[in-house]
Amino acid sequence: MDAVTGAFSYTGSVIAGELLARNRAVRTLTRSPPPAGHPLAGAVRVAPLDLDDEAALVRSLDGTEVLYNTFWIRFPRGGTTFEWAVAASARLFRAAAAAGVERIVHISVTRPSLASPYAYFRGKAAVDELVLAGPVPATVVRPSIVFGGRQEVLVNNIAWFLRHVPVFAVPLRACRVQPVHVDDVARIAVEEPEPGVVDAVGPETFTYRGMAEQVAAAVGSRARIVPLPERAVAELARAAGVVLRDTVVTPEELGALTASLLTSDAPARGTVRFSEWVGEQAGWLGRKYHSELALHWRR
Ligand SMILES: NC(=O)c1ccc[n+]([C@@H]2O[C@H](COP(=O)([O-])OP(=O)(O)OC[C@H]3O[C@@H](n4cnc5c(N)ncnc54)[C@H](OP(=O)(O)O)[C@@H]3O)[C@@H](O)[C@H]2O)c1
Repeated sequence: MDAVTGAFSYTGSVIAGELLARNRAVRTLTRSPPPAGHPLAGAVRVAPLDLDDEAALVRSLDGTEVLYNTFWIRFPRGGTTFEWAVAASARLFRAAAAAGVERIVHISVTRPSLASPYAYFRGKAAVDELVLAGPVPATVVRPSIVFGGRQEVLVNNIAWFLRHVPVFAVPLRACRVQPVHVDDVARIAVEEPEPGVVDAVGPETFTYRGMAEQVAAAVGSRARIVPLPERAVAELARAAGVVLRDTVVTPEELGALTASLLTSDAPARGTVRFSEWVGEQAGWLGRKYHSELALHWRR
């Protein structure tokens, strides 16, 4: 029996699917029952993910061989801060040790650093250190921007904007991204046998503007893609968030993007090419806006 946090959410659902395809029994730790019609409903056992209750986490992990941990927050909101998310991750890892889990595969992000100006990347670095220093042998998988699968938020929402607005703003500062397909992330997570750190990045690197242009071409958008100073892009995103009742992109996320943190110097382990994938998604990509707040915060 393996355990996956968030098997009804994004990366976790693909990791769970990959494990089931390899005839592993899967239990998911999650805050919610499966959404109606979710393909994994009934295929995985469900246990609570109460990150404030270490004893409950031990019970949820009882009998687990490998824990695949996807838990993180995209941004702080209310009392849910990155400091809380680090402490919650520490509770999860302690609970895994107490439950006798044999191995942890932990999903992080490319280029985390305790010295990063971005709290997301500092928090990720702190959690990576915790899991690598803990008593349970651990593999840390570090993806860049993840794309693919119907539950993804980022590329879908770029496409949604490109379908609905006449002008799409991108940061003036040229920045690179190296998107990786969610299937590649799941395969690397499940196949990587060695403890330590492995970057999960795709085979192609683009400027962010180049990536947006490919999405625009794929969905037949006639929007003008306009480079603007980062602060102006952040302000437009904030205004769009008010209209959509969502957090579209935070100033921190824009900063990390323009600092090209979503890339790696390691050889690409992902094989799916964004440029080929995006051209085949016109039927659904960006037809419906995917709200981060609705998915993870208004439950
Ligand atoms: N998506 C990307 O482009 C990307 C890029 C680089 C790295 N990553 C990393 O990959 C991992 C998985 O990302 P993902 O996008 O696939 O995440 P996700 O599916 O949206 O969420 C993963 C897990 O975190 C829990 N979670 C999410 N928001 C939460 C909140 N506000 N409070 C409490 N729990 C919350 C979810 O709980 P439920 O099970 O209850 O839904 C789920 O178990 C994360 O560590 C992320 O940092 C993602």
